[in-house]
Parts: sequence; structure tokens; C-alpha cells
Amino acid sequence: MPDPMRPRASLRTAVVWEVLKDALDRRVKATGREALDVLDTGGGSGNFAVPVARLGHRVTVVDPSPNALFALERRAAEAGVADRVRGVQGDVLGLFDVVERGGYDAVLCHGVLEYVEDPAEGVRNAVDALRSEGALSLLAAGLGGAVLARALAGHFTEARRALGDPAGRWGDGDPVPRRFTAEQLTELVAATGVEVGAVHGVRVFADLVPGVLVDTEPGALDALLKLEAAAAELPAFHSVATQLHVLGEKRA
Ligand SMILES: C[S@@+](CC[C@H](N)C(=O)[O-])C[C@H]1O[C@@H](n2cnc3c(N)ncnc32)[C@H](O)[C@@H]1O
Repeated sequence: MPDPMRPRASLRTAVVWEVLKDALDRRVKATGREALDVLDTGGGSGNFAVPVARLGHRVTVVDPSPNALFALERRAAEAGVADRVRGVQGDVLGLFDVVERGGYDAVLCHGVLEYVEDPAEGVRNAVDALRSEGALSLLAAGLGGAVLARALAGHFTEARRALGDPAGRWGDGDPVPRRFTAEQLTELVAATGVEVGAVHGVRVFADLVPGVLVDTEPGALDALLKLEAAAAELPAFHSVATQLHVLGEKRA
């Protein structure tokens, strides 16, 4: 997906996109169907839904925000995939009021668990929406990345508060209601009976590097993307990543 018009945006999405694309390719091969049914819970304005539709898949986005769904519709039209993207207003905690149980080859839940009242129920619903052997793509804010970012910005008390806070929040002004460790996220997935696959650390360095180093040095963005990709797979870096990605597969 790296967007040539917004090169720095690729730093936020490249690792997840590569993992997701591989998982979808595997489902295409396993099912023998070129067009998969994909559900993007909390898919917002389509950062992932639209590129997934561009691969030829049918994507349903469930999101509570009418503004996000409006932006999604416009973006899908601009990308020429309006016929493969369906936006539905709804909540991951009331998922089956709006979509079919067991109807999807892949379910994305990216940047949503942080905001829901009951993350375990959110993951259970995402898994219940999957067909047998379907792929779960879960992305959520990492605790360690936030601690490191606050500390490097000189907010040492906030960093310590996040470290000791059960929800991983650095203070009352923290816009993110909840963060996770890799263990917490994988436990949430494993508790549903889904087989936990690869775990990746996302944005290990990108948020800590001064923008000027990436924007002005020739080749720096490309080198940083490669560094992010290499570090993402190493468990040692999971504890300092801004986000954590967990891939799961629903057992047959
Ligand atoms: C940080 S954005 C992530 C958007 C998109 N998934 C992405 O990765 O670019 C969080 C999205 O979750 C949606 N959201 C918040 N609470 C939700 C809930 N309970 N169920 C489903 N979506 C929710 C918001 O409207 C927003 O679009």
C-alpha cells in the first residue's frame, strides 16, 4: 500500500500491510477463490479497507462514525473500488446486529480495541465473524512504545505513570484509553481458541526519529522502512513498539 503521494504514511502502515497481504494471499490459495470476503471492524475512512478492495476482495467496514463512513465512501469511489466496499454503521461490540456471523475469510480489527469497553468481547466478536480457517488481523497500541515516547519527550513522570497504569495511560490528557503488551494481546486472541500466528512490533523507530532526518537525507525513508521491517519480527523490539500486530487463524 505505500502511498507515493504520502511517503511518510508508509512508515505507519508498511509492516502491517505486508503481513496482511501475505495472509490474504494464503487464504486465496487455500480457498481457491480470487475474491475474499473481508470485514474491517472499526475500519474508519478505509486506510486498509480501500487497498484490500484494490486487491480484488469484497470489504465490509463496520464503524460507528458517520463521518468516517462518508470519507470511506468517497475514498473508495476515488480508488475505483466503490462496488467492492460497503460501509455499515455499527459497533464491534454489537457486530452481529449488522453483519453475518461466520461470514468472512478475514477480519481486521485495527486501532479499535484501545477504545472499546470490553476488548475481550471485541476480539471474540471479530473471531466469531470468521469462517473456519479465516485470518484475524489485530492491531493495537503498545504500552512500551508510549512509555518510551513520553520519556524521550522529557515527560518522565507521565512515562512512569503509564508504566504503572493498568490501562497504560500516561495521564488524564492521554487521548488513548487503553494500551496493551504483546502478552496481553496474544492472550486475548488465544482465549478465543484462535491459533496465534506471527506477532509484529509496528513503528519501533518511526515515531522517535526527528522528521527532518527522514525527509531531507536521500534514501533515509527507504532505509528506515527496511529497519522497521527487520525489527518488527524480533520479540526484543515488541516491548518498545508504538503498535503491536497479531495474526491469528481460526481453527478448522
Ligand atoms: C484509530 S481509528 C483506526 C481506523 C482504521 N482501522 C485504521 O487502522 O486506519 C479507530 C476507529 O475505530 C472506530 N471505533 C471506535 N470505537 C469503536 C467500536 N466500539 N466499534 C467499532 N469501531 C469503533 C472509530 O470510529 C475509528 O474509525
